[in-house]
This record gives sequence, structure tokens and C-alpha cells, in this order.
Amino acid sequence: MMATVRTPCRRRPPMAKTTQEIAGRKDSEGSPPLTLREFEETVRTEHLYPLWVATAERASRPRTPIQPHVWPWKHLRRRILEAGDLIPVGGEGADRRVLTLHNPGLPGNWVGTTHTLLASIQMLHGTEVAPSHRHTPAALRFIKEGKGACTVVNGEPESMEKGDFLLTPSWYWHGHYSEHEEPMLWMDGLDVPLVFTLGTNFYEDYPGELQPVTSSRDESIRRFSGGGLLPVGERKATRNSPC
Ligand SMILES: [Fe+2]
Repeated sequence: MMATVRTPCRRRPPMAKTTQEIAGRKDSEGSPPLTLREFEETVRTEHLYPLWVATAERASRPRTPIQPHVWPWKHLRRRILEAGDLIPVGGEGADRRVLTLHNPGLPGNWVGTTHTLLASIQMLHGTEVAPSHRHTPAALRFIKEGKGACTVVNGEPESMEKGDFLLTPSWYWHGHYSEHEEPMLWMDGLDVPLVFTLGTNFYEDYPGELQPVTSSRDESIRRFSGGGLLPVGERKATRNSPC
């Protein structure tokens, strides 16, 4: 008796479907197929970008348009003092007398010292009032020189003296005033370019010149300067650090 040997079934693979069959397209029946160049040009008009043409743009190391640049303090100081003679603050003048440090590698209409941060120098004459406003970028301030000025942050006046470091959290009302005839100069740092890139840059003027004072001067220093300790029961409603 002979055993039946079954050979494996060899089927031919099905014929590959054409792109037109897969897509179910009928509108281009009869039209000649696009060349690769024509295809790339056509899809770009449809806001589709063929990634394979971007291989030449791939960098083997990080690239940035930001360029190193030095703004000497003597020059900055001279320029902001000149601005103090030319543009007033408040009223018909500027909301802020500020010169931003613009990175030479960025486009002229782009506000930024780096691609994420903005540094600037600000000046307030004695008796001037910089009206209150608020914005989503957060700010920090290094006081360079002067005396007798205050920044009012959410109703709390914070003294500004040479060597001080102040924080203005995101979306907190803040305005500045000076009670001393000596000009006050400080450096601002804000995350404006980062917030702008994220599409979350919002700004609002306070209805009135300066937000009314609602707490004692430098209350935050008394409440939060105890070596990282907080008062018992302190539970802030916001997630910002103490201002
Ligand atoms: Fe501001």
C-alpha cells in the first residue's frame, strides 16, 4: 500500500492592488500618473509636506538662531537714562520705560533675548507711576540701583532696593511707583517668547492707574522669609510661589 504524500499548497500571491483601487478613486481615471516632482509640488499646495524631502535639513547636532551677545551695563545704563529724558511713564507716556535685549540672531519683530526668555532694562523716575497690568508671562526683577520705589503686586507693596530680587507670578496685577527723586533702574526677566510660542500670551490693563494697596508693605517678606517655613495653616489658593 502506497502512502499518499501531500505536497504543500503553493498559491500565487494575489496581485497587488493599484493605488487607485485602494483609494477607490475614479476622478483621475484616464489622467496620466504624476511624476514624483509633480506629486511633491501638488501636495504642498494642499498643506501636506513630504517628509522625505527634508532629509537635507536634518542636523547632526542641535541648531539655534540664538547668537552670543554682550550688552555692557555701562552702555545699557546710559541708554535707559537717555530714554528717561525722552519718554515719560504713565498718562500720555509709556506704560513701561523699557529697553529689551534683542538677540541679534532673531528676526527684528521677534521679542526675545533667547528663544524662550526675554531680558530688559527698566527705569522709573522719582514720583512716576507705572500703571498696573497683568499678563501670563511671569517676571523676575533684579534691582540695579535707586531707592524709594515699590512694586504693588496683587495689592501688596513690595520695596525695591538695590540688590533686591523680586518675583511677579503669572497673571498677578502689578504696577510700580517711586517716592524718591533718584531714578530706579532694574533688570526684568520674563518668559515671554516661551509663552508666546505656546499660544498662551494674554495681557490686561487694570481699570485705573495703580491697583489699590490692600496689605501692609513687604508683608510677604514677614510671612515667607523664615528659612523656608510657612505660617501654620497657610494654604494659598494659587499655585504660585509667594510674591
Ligand atoms: Fe508687566
